[in-house]
Amino acid sequence: MAPRPVYFDCDTGIDDALALVYLMASPEISLAGIGTVSGNIDAKRAALNTLDLLDMGGRNDVPVAVGAMDPLTHSFGGGVPHIHGHNGVGDVELPHTDRRPVAESAADMLVRLAHEHPGELDVIAIGPLTNLAVALKQDPSIAELVHEVIIMGGAALVPGNLSEVGEANIYNDPEAAQVVMDAPWQVVLVPLDVTLENAFEESDREALAASDSLLNQALADILNLYFDFYVEEYGRRMCALHDPLAAAIAVGQITAIRAPKVPVVVDATHGPGRGQTICDLRKQRGGPRDVEGAHVRVVLDTDQPLAPVLLERLLNYHS
Ligand code: BDR
Ligand code: CA
Repeated sequence: MAPRPVYFDCDTGIDDALALVYLMASPEISLAGIGTVSGNIDAKRAALNTLDLLDMGGRNDVPVAVGAMDPLTHSFGGGVPHIHGHNGVGDVELPHTDRRPVAESAADMLVRLAHEHPGELDVIAIGPLTNLAVALKQDPSIAELVHEVIIMGGAALVPGNLSEVGEANIYNDPEAAQVVMDAPWQVVLVPLDVTLENAFEESDREALAASDSLLNQALADILNLYFDFYVEEYGRRMCALHDPLAAAIAVGQITAIRAPKVPVVVDATHGPGRGQTICDLRKQRGGPRDVEGAHVRVVLDTDQPLAPVLLERLLNYHS
């Protein structure tokens, strides 16, 4: 089977870096283009990080476009240096490539790719949803052209991570998330409910460090800061695999087993609920039940742990 074309939207970012290398290592898909957005770090720096990782993986064929520097209605707050480092990649100095982002914006790239691959393009979005919202505003027809949008974001039945109820990617641009959830395309939402259940342990990090690939060694280094941050959540050095889980579901290596299509409303008010993804999960005790007319599938359980699947792909990737 021909690899499925993917537009990948990211804010690289430590777990974004893992997701990116996983996608580079996945023959099921082909990276048609990558757009970056401000979230973990600003969009320009995220693009440079992405280019450095692509270069280390021998994938200089993949174009990278800088996307929105600011969320739709406010200014970018500067990222999260205590989680992802001052440079977005755990304060590790990657070998820098001379390659630069392409001239088109991330939103323009998404619109172009949607038209070039009608009915085929998958969108994997693992940062704030600003670029997707801008693209939809520019050309609403992409909602019919795109095959599926797989989003790491939201919290259905668990607390948020940036506010009591808000998950970072949604909370950082709720107005954009609202546009994206409201558009009539097929969305798979991969929320904290499942991403926090999938983690890398120190043994996984050590396996990457022991690999003879410089790229895997760099990932092991980058993960150090993320592991420190997650001690407060898990009680020991390890990390959640937020973005790689969305990538693995998109690739098809991980299958969602409890994932009803339900109405999802994003709270874009300025009250305590800002950034919440309100998922209508009523009447689901008898098993997953799609609500008629709903187009957002909310992933509440998966078939197998991601960590071994991810590690195997990373360790076997030879650029
Ligand atoms: C999400 O927020 C970002 O910090 C991570 O890269 C991930 O996409 C988790 O809430
Ligand atoms: Ca991310």
